[in-house]
Amino acid sequence: MRHEAIEKSLNLMMVLIVAAISIGGLVEIIPLMMSSDATEPDEGIAVYSPLRLAGRDIYVREGCYNCHSQMIRPFRSETERYGPFTTAGETVYDRPFQFGSKRTGPDLARVGGRYSDDWQRLHLMDPRALVPESNMPAYPWLAEREVDPEFLTAKLRTLQFLGDPYTDEQIAAAAGEVEGKTELDAIVAYLQGLGTNRRNRR
Ligand code: HEC
Repeated sequence: MRHEAIEKSLNLMMVLIVAAISIGGLVEIIPLMMSSDATEPDEGIAVYSPLRLAGRDIYVREGCYNCHSQMIRPFRSETERYGPFTTAGETVYDRPFQFGSKRTGPDLARVGGRYSDDWQRLHLMDPRALVPESNMPAYPWLAEREVDPEFLTAKLRTLQFLGDPYTDEQIAAAAGEVEGKTELDAIVAYLQGLGTNRRNRR
């Protein structure tokens, strides 16, 4: 009888449908928001240095995430290839995170230190010089443009306001740190730090 009452009342039915389909989301999302595993940084995770932060912005601007994920899933096939799986606590300073799922190229979550700085530079300037079968685009303009210190300082202040633990001294020193650095320097610094808090290889 109760079932009939529900089926005959459109509003009640809508409320109950929303409640039913919310449960899956709520049981997954709410515990994560409460859990310190997901909201506190893992050991060895610090805020991005100013140069790496600038590099991260360039990574996003150039759409590297369209071909590269930064999330190693907890499967043997993944950890054998890329290293230890990604944890939420590693990504607390990622705004926005770069997990992604499209892998035209390899996952980059632990690419830091896998190649030399020179390799990374040349690869970004001309991928096919190093990997002849690569279909990754070349990004030669990165070497010609400089990082904008003013924009970076404003960004650091915003992140500090949002709760990232940048000190006032770090922010004051940022412009000097990136003085004369090209976008290529910044993105290579960003790549070389990816995943280096954890063992890179088993
Ligand atoms: C159209 C897809 C595509 C885009 C966009 C792209 N890549 Fe790639 N990337 C690849 C492919 C395919 C490979 C593997 C072949 C190679 O090494 O060139 C690769 C390889 C790499 C590697 C070496 C990874 C490893 O473990 O060997 C790095 C680092 C990298 N890309 C960084 C970047 C960065 C930074 C950007 C953005 C500026 C970018 N990629 C944009 C497709 C792409």
